[in-house]
Amino acid sequence: MRGPPGSIYRVNTADVEALLSPAGLALLAELAGTTTEDPVALAARLRREGHDPALAALATTQSRLRARAAAKFGPRAASLLFTAAGAEQATRAVVAAEHARRFAAAGVSRVADLGCGVGADSLAFLDAGLTVLPVDADPVTAAVATHNLGVPVRCEDVTAGIVDELSGGEGAWFDPARRTSGGRRVFDPEATSPPLSFVLTTAQRVPATGAKLAPGLPHDLVPVGAEAQWTSVDGEVVECALWCGPLARPGVARSARVVRSGSVVELDSRDLPEATVGEVGSFLHEPDGAVIRAGLVGRVAADLGGRLVDETIAYVTTDSAASSEFARSFRVLEVMPFGLKALRSRLRALDVGPVTVKKRGTAVDPDQLRRQLALKGSRAATIVLTRLRGRQSVLVVEPVS
Ligand SMILES: C[S@@+](CC[C@H](N)C(=O)[O-])C[C@H]1O[C@@H](n2cnc3c(N)ncnc32)[C@H](O)[C@@H]1O
Repeated sequence: MRGPPGSIYRVNTADVEALLSPAGLALLAELAGTTTEDPVALAARLRREGHDPALAALATTQSRLRARAAAKFGPRAASLLFTAAGAEQATRAVVAAEHARRFAAAGVSRVADLGCGVGADSLAFLDAGLTVLPVDADPVTAAVATHNLGVPVRCEDVTAGIVDELSGGEGAWFDPARRTSGGRRVFDPEATSPPLSFVLTTAQRVPATGAKLAPGLPHDLVPVGAEAQWTSVDGEVVECALWCGPLARPGVARSARVVRSGSVVELDSRDLPEATVGEVGSFLHEPDGAVIRAGLVGRVAADLGGRLVDETIAYVTTDSAASSEFARSFRVLEVMPFGLKALRSRLRALDVGPVTVKKRGTAVDPDQLRRQLALKGSRAATIVLTRLRGRQSVLVVEPVS
């Protein structure tokens, strides 16, 4: 064990065993609901009560990880174990449920979770009635996942041959690690562990292969016949899932799944209309990030009865009010060419103080712009910096509730 009591440090397998001992489990149960207590005061109280200081530190850290993980796992987090990295990398339960649904819908009954982490995806597979074969190369993560899943987790490198043990009718799931051992985030799909090429090779042997990849996946890396599905949760694009073989929907190359306040809506690339470009109208619509990543803005524009403000910019405009579950809508109050002086004097005339800056297709730094504007008025405003048919422009807008 390393680090001071109460800090979020990396645990080892002996720590996991200590936490799962009767004394560890009793202390974890006692600590449930203490996350608001000052960590120093809590450590002192536990020492006074005669708890082993090392175990108290471990349990305190674990209880804080559980509290943090509740945002992804819900109340179930209170009975799971976490590593700090495992909690951070875990799939949100609402998204993992879709992963499980794909395998179940394809008639797959057993899924190998190849790099299972603390087990968020495997938990969803189990919830969906599937059998799982969870595997992780990291011994601590495997020990934690064994507790979380209630099934033994194989601790090995998935590139070392386990795929050869799978039958063609089973499923394979990957969620490659996107950080180096030093914690640096990697963006190249070949730099993840395992790399995308290993996922695609596996798909040749195990057709029902799926993978959770970074949202920045370039469209040209999606194999023919596979479906790439971008998901956003409450406005944040969280993943691009790659579905191969029977997991892909026929004719769907790309799709977007938008989860907002628990409700889910979907769009896909079948019969995708080409968006037209035209003058900005009275309303501006900002498509959800998953829709943009999936290249489906044309569908949202068509559904809104609108057009793009620029060939290369993902803003849709309409002349009258329109709404879509896939976009946030704004009423356009003013439109002007971009220029600092003119913008400052107009916003001052409007008595604007706090300003929300949205931007797309411009290099302007919003924080620097805010400082340069030096607004002191009493009204809040939202401005959009973008290109309108090639011209750098600024729009003053207000959200349509
Ligand atoms: C992003 S996490 C998985 C998170 C998991 N899907 C969840 O939702 O809880 C990736 C995991 O893959 C494991 N991993 C990375 N490379 C591996 C390899 N070659 N073999 C086995 N496991 C590997 C890491 O130890 C890490 O726990």
